[in-house]
Amino acid sequence: MPPARRRILVTSALPYANGPIHLGHLVEYLQTDIWTRFQRLAGHDCLYVCASDAHGTPIMLKAAEQGLPPEVMVENYRREHLRDFSRFHIAFDNYHTTHSAENQQLVERIYARLQERGLVDWRTIRQAYDEQARMFLPDRFIRGTCPACSAPDQYGDSCEACGATYSPADLKDARSAVSGTTPVMRESSHLFFRLGVFEDSLRRWTAGGRLDPSVTAKLGEWFAAGLRDWDISRDAPYFGFPIPGATDKFFYVWLDAPVGYMASFANLCESRKKSSQPIVFDDYWNEQSAAELYHFIGKDIAYFHTLFWPAVLEGAGFRQPTSVFVHGFLTVDGQKMSKSRGTFVAAATYLEHLDPEWLRYYYAYKLGPGTDDIDLNLADFSARINADLVGKFVNIASRCAGFIHRLAGGRLSASLANPALVAEAAAAASEIARLYEAREFGRAMREIMRLADRANQYLDERKPWVLARDPARSADVQAVCTDGLNLFRLLVLYLKPVLPDTAARAEDFLGTGPLTWADAGQPLLDRVIGTYQPLMTRVDPAAVARMIEASRPGAATNDQPESRPVTRATAAAPSADIIDLDTFLKADLRVATVLQAEIVEGADKLLRVTVDAGGERRTVFAGIRSAYDPATLVGRQVVLLLNLAPRQMRFGISEGMLLAAGDDAGGVFLVTPDPGARAGLRVR
Ligand code: MSP
Ligand code: ZN
Repeated sequence: MPPARRRILVTSALPYANGPIHLGHLVEYLQTDIWTRFQRLAGHDCLYVCASDAHGTPIMLKAAEQGLPPEVMVENYRREHLRDFSRFHIAFDNYHTTHSAENQQLVERIYARLQERGLVDWRTIRQAYDEQARMFLPDRFIRGTCPACSAPDQYGDSCEACGATYSPADLKDARSAVSGTTPVMRESSHLFFRLGVFEDSLRRWTAGGRLDPSVTAKLGEWFAAGLRDWDISRDAPYFGFPIPGATDKFFYVWLDAPVGYMASFANLCESRKKSSQPIVFDDYWNEQSAAELYHFIGKDIAYFHTLFWPAVLEGAGFRQPTSVFVHGFLTVDGQKMSKSRGTFVAAATYLEHLDPEWLRYYYAYKLGPGTDDIDLNLADFSARINADLVGKFVNIASRCAGFIHRLAGGRLSASLANPALVAEAAAAASEIARLYEAREFGRAMREIMRLADRANQYLDERKPWVLARDPARSADVQAVCTDGLNLFRLLVLYLKPVLPDTAARAEDFLGTGPLTWADAGQPLLDRVIGTYQPLMTRVDPAAVARMIEASRPGAATNDQPESRPVTRATAAAPSADIIDLDTFLKADLRVATVLQAEIVEGADKLLRVTVDAGGERRTVFAGIRSAYDPATLVGRQVVLLLNLAPRQMRFGISEGMLLAAGDDAGGVFLVTPDPGARAGLRVR
């Protein structure tokens, strides 16, 4: 009896849309993609959704650095990520964004339910505030001297030198990473999610044997330390969803990010509505859902996914994840990825030098179900691919195909010479399936290579190249090579989740059509195969070296990944008051022409002004209503600060600032270039 068809929804963590995808990220997306491809080949309904994580302070500041509204930057990265992922053959059913209508609706619905059930409340807290940048500072945006070991220039929450964790208030000579000024402490009211209420049910959820033992152990530590209520709000300016009923408050990015899984799925349901395979949102997300739900994530974000997220889901009346699959971190040659060593390799850089399927195989070979870090050893990478994929796997096809064409007109024999050998390899299908299912990819690869060794050994014993010298033995050669190609076909099937592209070309060559797990038992006989084209080339270690070279700082790649969320140029200035020229030149000031100006309903100081800065159109909210009649502004030239962090205001987003002289008492005077200045010219 065939196993029942399962309905499975799978996610990978939503990558932040403020930098390129790198080889570290790919551990996760490749692991997930291999698993979902396996599930589909095994005959299950398996959907894989993901999205860009669009919100939060680092995204807001990065967009400001690039002089773009955050929506625009996020969309740029979303496209770039999707392009990189698809080149690595990662096959999402949907790739959405958390900055979407679906997500906002779901977040608001969840918030409403949490409110109804008394699971959230407002409390006053004290927090570091940057008076110059006029924003509250997340811990990561405060730098200073470690209170424990006096190492300079450490983050506000932990020291990279000695590993101490502390609160930003304990940091010596704390500075804002945004403006370089000394933060002050300020009170603000924040929304808290009462995580503690869920302790019993979370203990039950985690004790169900659903998590890998390494994750259960970590959870044990967290339970022992006590579950603290969770601050789910942030003050303006913030790029995120406004909290209904509150002013200048936004949902913390980590509240809406996992909801993004649901939102991407809702978006998929909508786009499949009129298709032959519609999907129903509630079938997957309501409390009684019989579908399976799995999140693949890295160990750094396990707390969010194994405590906060199941609690929020329960609180809001949705189903919880069937399991959360947590992987470890990538190291390269045994060390953390590092920009200076050139081991912080962007996905796009890898693709300029190497074949994506090599990395798919190498990671599969290294991956298990636990949270151990996985090491990309660059010398071993070349050796492993060349030995396994080229030397063992595709070698079988290249050894056999020529004889079938030369001696048998390209036709496989009508029966196998060694049916027992092929049957044994076919019988391995269930064990290999078990290994894939359990995310024991490394073991699966070893098992597959053991079968490849066995096939090569068989050819070595039968020596078709010797038999072929005797014209009377043509049928024997044909039969032995038919065995060989049948073994090869099974290896293609077993490797198909890992090597989808090579598998497709091998299926073409064999003329099998798309193979699935159910096909393992039926040998391929008495049919004409295509001519063999090399299915995979050897890795040239020099190409690996070039990739590393191209990833070093200063190398001429267009997109260097950022390891830190913000530049600290201002912190390097001699003092907070005197700035050097470079600092000043960071301000991108432009001549701009006013296209439109209007009164903002409900704001007595503001005008909404749209300007053209030489092809860049920006809308800003300027506090000039007292001095200017909007109608007289149209067509006039002004000076625009183009690369100011976009600010979310109650009325919309302000994408820059118009320069004006003035103070509260003496009126306000727009700065205007002399006649003749063209829109877009830089002011300096
Ligand atoms: N945006 C959050 C996830 C929100 S999920 C609702 C995030 N984004 S991330 O871009 O920083 O990371 C995305 C995933 O990649 C995470 O699961 C993270 O663990 C993983 N990795 C990022 N760098 C990694 C390595 N160097 N090694 C292995 N995985 C790593 O976290
Ligand atoms: Zn320290």
